[in-house]
Amino acid sequence: MNDRDDPAARVARLFDELADDYDQSGVAFFAPIAEGLVDALALVPGERVVDIGCGRGAVTFPAARAVGTTGAVTAVDIAPAMVELTRRRAEQSGCVQVTTALGTADELGLHDASADVLASSLVLFFAPDPVATLRAWLRLLVPGGRFGLATFGTPDPVWERVDALFRPYLPPQLLDPRTSGADGPFASDEGMVQLALACGASSARTVRHHVPVHFPDAAAWRAFSQSTGQRAFWRFVPEDRRQRLYEEAAEVLEDARTDGGDLVLHQSLRYTLGTV
Ligand SMILES: C[S@@+](CC[C@H](N)C(=O)[O-])C[C@H]1O[C@@H](n2cnc3c(N)ncnc32)[C@H](O)[C@@H]1O
Repeated sequence: MNDRDDPAARVARLFDELADDYDQSGVAFFAPIAEGLVDALALVPGERVVDIGCGRGAVTFPAARAVGTTGAVTAVDIAPAMVELTRRRAEQSGCVQVTTALGTADELGLHDASADVLASSLVLFFAPDPVATLRAWLRLLVPGGRFGLATFGTPDPVWERVDALFRPYLPPQLLDPRTSGADGPFASDEGMVQLALACGASSARTVRHHVPVHFPDAAAWRAFSQSTGQRAFWRFVPEDRRQRLYEEAAEVLEDARTDGGDLVLHQSLRYTLGTV
């Protein structure tokens, strides 16, 4: 099966290629989102946490600090380069409570009922079948275990206008509304609650969080966008149209210029929290 037929393989390959640059553009985005999720989970020393779709460890390392060396964090990702970079970071920072694993939670054979807390930031909407995926994730929790899922909330209108510049070039599989939060369970607080309850949660609620994202200029936005999943969008823009698209984006981004001089886009988040 090639990547076109297998969405999970496409996601794994995209993030594998991105891993070196991912979250390294200097724009604070993934870290404040992940830290908000870790705070909302109110971790305590000694707890065993599974971080699914760990990327470069935005959740893993704050979680490791919160559970301490008497606890444990298992950081899982389907992209080998993400796993390797997170493993190295754990080694270099002496985080002995962090272990890494390559694969999806269900195929890894992580034991059912082996974690106190499951955390996953900006991952579930990539799953071709979110119900089956979340069911498998929640089985990892002990009875009474807690989970926290970060997904995107209401989009910033300026950001939407920038993203819309890519749309004429994108193939149908990248127009999937689930990742934009425009449709399905990812489109509303209640949709996320119902998804969690349908997947084995005994209680669930969604709280909102907000992260202002500062870009010193449009070039910083471009570097950031090429270091995230949006790099896939750039690839579909013919090379001789990319500079024009960037200039159009820079024009739109002027509407986000603040008195301080930065371009500030607002990212709203849903944290869906609950127990099994
Ligand atoms: C947008 S990144 C988020 C990474 C990290 N949680 C963060 O907040 O920076 C999504 C990550 O999830 C991984 N991923 C996607 N689907 C996955 C799955 N079913 N199981 C494990 N990892 C997955 C990708 O490889 C990628 O590293």
